[in-house]
This record gives sequence, C-alpha cells and structure tokens, in this order.
Amino acid sequence: MIRKNKKALTAIALATSIIASGIAALPAFAQAGDQTVNWTREDVSKIELNQDNTLPTIDISKLDKLAPGYHMWDTWPLMDRDGNIASYKGWKVIFALSAPNDVLPGKVHDIATIRYFYSKNGKDWTLGGELFPKGTAFGQRQWAGSAMLDGDQIHAFYTATGREGQAQLTYEQRIATATGKIVADSNGVRFENWDKHRIILEPDGKYYQTVEQAKQGEGGGYAFRDPMWFKDPKNGKEYILFEGNSGGIVSERPFKQEYAGSAGYLQQHPVPAGAAHANGNIGIAEVVGGDLNNIKMLPPLVEANYVNEELERPHVVVKDKKYYLFTDSHINKYAEGITGPEGMYGFVSDTLIGGYKPLNGSGLVIANPADNPYQAYSWLVTPELNVVGFAQFGDLNGMTVGEIGNQSPEFQFSHFGGTLAPTVKISLNGDTTKIEKILPQGWIK
Ligand code: FRU
Repeated sequence: MIRKNKKALTAIALATSIIASGIAALPAFAQAGDQTVNWTREDVSKIELNQDNTLPTIDISKLDKLAPGYHMWDTWPLMDRDGNIASYKGWKVIFALSAPNDVLPGKVHDIATIRYFYSKNGKDWTLGGELFPKGTAFGQRQWAGSAMLDGDQIHAFYTATGREGQAQLTYEQRIATATGKIVADSNGVRFENWDKHRIILEPDGKYYQTVEQAKQGEGGGYAFRDPMWFKDPKNGKEYILFEGNSGGIVSERPFKQEYAGSAGYLQQHPVPAGAAHANGNIGIAEVVGGDLNNIKMLPPLVEANYVNEELERPHVVVKDKKYYLFTDSHINKYAEGITGPEGMYGFVSDTLIGGYKPLNGSGLVIANPADNPYQAYSWLVTPELNVVGFAQFGDLNGMTVGEIGNQSPEFQFSHFGGTLAPTVKISLNGDTTKIEKILPQGWIK
C-alpha cells in the first residue's frame, strides 16, 4: 500500500538529514506523554515465526458454527469488577459482534450488532439474542467492547460506529456505555432494564486523532474503538483501554528517530515516505473513582507511528505482578517497508502506565501459520491465559485478503469462518511467551 504525500516526504527527508548530521531530532508535535512507549520498526524487524508463536494450521471449514444463522467475530467474556471471568447463578456469558450469515464477509462490519451467548461449562454456548433492545444503542452499528458485572448490574462498553440517523454509512467512532440488569434462571440468561446509553469518550485531537484529522491525511487509518474495562489490582484504580491513532494530521507528525529504533538501525534501514501514514496507538482513560461520569483521557500507552496503523482490541492481563498488554494487528496494517503476520502482539511492564517493552523482543505473541495466513484473528487473552479468537479466512492458496472481495459469493462464504476458533493456551514467563496447547473451539474457562 503505497501512499504519496509530499508534505510527509519533505518532513521525513528533513528529519532524516537532521538525524544524519547529528543534530537533535525535530521537536515532536506533542501527542505522546512521558508514559508513552514506541513500538519501533527495529522491534518489528525482529519478528520471526517459530513454534512458540505460530498456530498449527487448521481447516476452518470444519469448525462448528456457534451462532446458528449468524457470522460471529470479535468476542469478549462477561468479567467481574476485579477482572475475573464472571459467573452468575452458574452461567458464563460471552458477547460477540454478529451479522446474518447471508451477508458477505467483507460487509459484516457495516451492520455489526452485539449478540450474547450463555453457557454452564464455558464451552458449549447458547445464543441468547441481541444485547440491547433494537434502536437503543448509539451508532449506525456497534463494534467491539467489553462488559463488567457488578452484583446484578452489567456495565456494557461498546464502539458506536457511524452516526445513528445518517443515511450514508459513516465511520466516526465513539465509545459508549449502558448499564442494565442481568437476569438468570435454570433456562438461561437475559438482560433488561437498560438505562439511557451514554457516550463517554471521543477523540481529543491531541493524543487521539479525530475523524476530521484523519480525513486530512490522504489515507492512513482512523480508529477510536474497542473499549476494554480494566481495574489495576495494585491500587484499585479503574481504566478503559482502547484502540486509537496518534493525534494531529499526517503533515504535523514529522519523523523521529525513536519511531525507527536505534540510530544504527535507522542508518541501515531508511524509512520510506509512505510510512508516515501509520499512526496506530493504544489509548487509556481513567475512570476516576470508578465513576463512569468522570472519565479522564490519558496519553497513550504505546504508539506505533511509522510502524503500524491499527493496534486493535488492547487489553491487559496481570501475572506475577507484571502487566501484559496485548493487541491484535493485520498484515496489511504495517507501515511501508516493514511487515508482520496477522497476529496478536504484546508488551510487558512493571506498572500499568509506562515502561512497556515488546514481548519476545519483537512484540509477536501469536501468529497465523504462513500457509494459512488469515486463519484466525481478534484474539483476546483471559486471566487464565486462554486466548479466544475467531476463525477468519482459510485455504486461500496465496490470495491476499484484499483479493477475496473480488471472488464469487460462494467462494467468499466457503472460505470464511465467522465462528470462534479453537482457543489457544499460552504461558507467560517474564518477557517471553509460548503457545502451550490448542483447546476446543469456544473454550473460555
Ligand atoms: C477487529 C475489529 C475491531 C472492531 C471490529 C469491527 O476485528 O476491527 O477493532 O471493533 O473489528 O467489526
């Protein structure tokens, strides 16, 4: 994906020559805070598929469709306020983005709706229905989120994508919440008594790019989505993590050496102009005093400027007093000149805010196998280190994801999973990770 932008080119040329001449790098357009860590081009250059990070090839056409009549993709479990998988009257609950299964895979994002499922054993799921009564949620459609149970109250967080009421499909993303009540008996689970939905976070334009800023960038990503609720066990403070893009417009984001890595690496690996469009980041906001009406936007935890456009569904798991920050990204979201697999990536730190280092040196934790590169996606790690993802595209015989849309509907349907993938068990050991084993499809706990 080569994008031309003269202003960016000039900025890069200028910055590179300044770095080469030994003068300090250009002053940054102030997006990042002190806490913000760069995921660098040098980190990404260390990516290698090996047996600790690469999934075995599976035939996704053989998987059970867990949501009869629907495609399902991004999935998240109901958690309790302390971040454990919740159990209510013996039931576990998961939520998933969904669309009727006669919709082409490439179109599902345009009509996504959140549906929920319940299970006694955390493996065999019954479709409960839509999470919210029709017409009550913000957005033309709803994208990924999280859900937290406090007593019998559920706080649901989601992405409101597009503006409700607009005739044309639009891509603005806002973070919304609603509080309802969980009701369960021996037959199953339902949700009722939803209060009025509220928008709780919108991009500020400084740390996080607005849709208007993105439109001035001649290409590149725009994301402000995937709210993930998190409570820091060390001090009880509560947060929402989300996927964003660094603030400002592309011409205001001059290249800095720290985006590439070390001076030595940069010398050997010049940064192409088109890389300027990649500005994915992992955002965080504090829910002050646990009050959802008092949310304070904070600088991003990680930025991938000139590295990657989308750091999706960020979430944190705490183990051995360390914070493991995970995110998902696609092959085609890497900046020009570098590459990585459709995979789950991660960082580790001793504190929730600041100090993150890429896991395994490069950041790669889970990769699809090279012979089935789009096999699964949108992985989420539970506190038990079970990684839940969905089956994406299989058996493409070298075709890229961009080419799938040009194939016949039959081809597209028969190569799309649209259901949960087998769960992946990982282990975490300091700053390294390992795929331990493959568990049954849909296994949460
Ligand atoms: C990841 C994702 C999420 C988004 C959803 C939209 O699979 O891109 O970031 O919420 O899909 O369908």
